Amino acid sequence: MRVVIAGGHGKIALLLAEQLTERGDTPVALIRNPDHADDVRAVGAEPVQVDLEATTPDDLATHLAGADAVVFAAGAGPNSGAERKRSVDRDAALLLADAAAVAGVRRYLLVSSMGAENPPSEADDDSVWGSYLRAKAEAEQGVRGRDLDATILRPGVLTDEPATGRVRLAEQPVGHEEVTRADVATTLIALLDAPATIGRTLELINGTEPLGTAIDDLGGRTGPSVHGG
Ligand SMILES: NC(=O)c1ccc[n+]([C@@H]2O[C@H](COP(=O)([O-])OP(=O)(O)OC[C@H]3O[C@@H](n4cnc5c(N)ncnc54)[C@H](OP(=O)(O)O)[C@@H]3O)[C@@H](O)[C@H]2O)c1
Repeated sequence: MRVVIAGGHGKIALLLAEQLTERGDTPVALIRNPDHADDVRAVGAEPVQVDLEATTPDDLATHLAGADAVVFAAGAGPNSGAERKRSVDRDAALLLADAAAVAGVRRYLLVSSMGAENPPSEADDDSVWGSYLRAKAEAEQGVRGRDLDATILRPGVLTDEPATGRVRLAEQPVGHEEVTRADVATTLIALLDAPATIGRTLELINGTEPLGTAIDDLGGRTGPSVHGG
């Protein structure tokens, strides 16, 4: 499977690329800084340099040609302000969706965030955190409104601990607790393999259930694959 990862040098993205490579898939890492190319090559990904805040759907689509799926794992990061929450966490996610449509790539995974289900209004909370949640919520809404095979994943608080393989993954609230980035990456791959999760918005934290069981509880791998077969 050829999987294009937006935010390809991010922490989740590098773990995702490494895991995809290990199982024989082909990750493509969209990076904006050419100095990051060697890092993404080191985990088996093909680097493609593109600034998601300075491109168009048609240009981006040229990099998505032939992909089986795209994953939005970019983010403006902890030191950014409200403007970049909008230009990256919202607008770049929608740009990727529009580019996927142009390129004919139907499968789309959006890494969103817990809290996006109920973002504060600007009048109630004009903090950067409030802007972030509104940006994620608007990205989710825009992705749902497009004709794509999308799954939205809302992780809790991310940590850099090793993978546990044990999760709580559900459409219902699971609690705003921690989840390792490594488990988020593994879950993204499981979602790619589970077409029953298309059209769903899922919350994720670490828990006690094996990931495979959690995916089975959501309907497992019973539908058509991203390859259509
Ligand atoms: N932190 C949490 O607890 C938490 C919880 C839930 C969800 N999330 C979300 O999870 C996602 C992934 O998190 P993470 O920690 O893996 O992210 P990360 O390490 O901060 O990586 C984000 C990546 O996005 C890239 N990026 C930013 N602007 C870009 C642009 N204009 N064009 C291309 N790439 C750009 C960054 O590249 P540069 O290095 O060039 O800036 C970086 O590689 C994010 O969407 C985040 O909001 C985070």
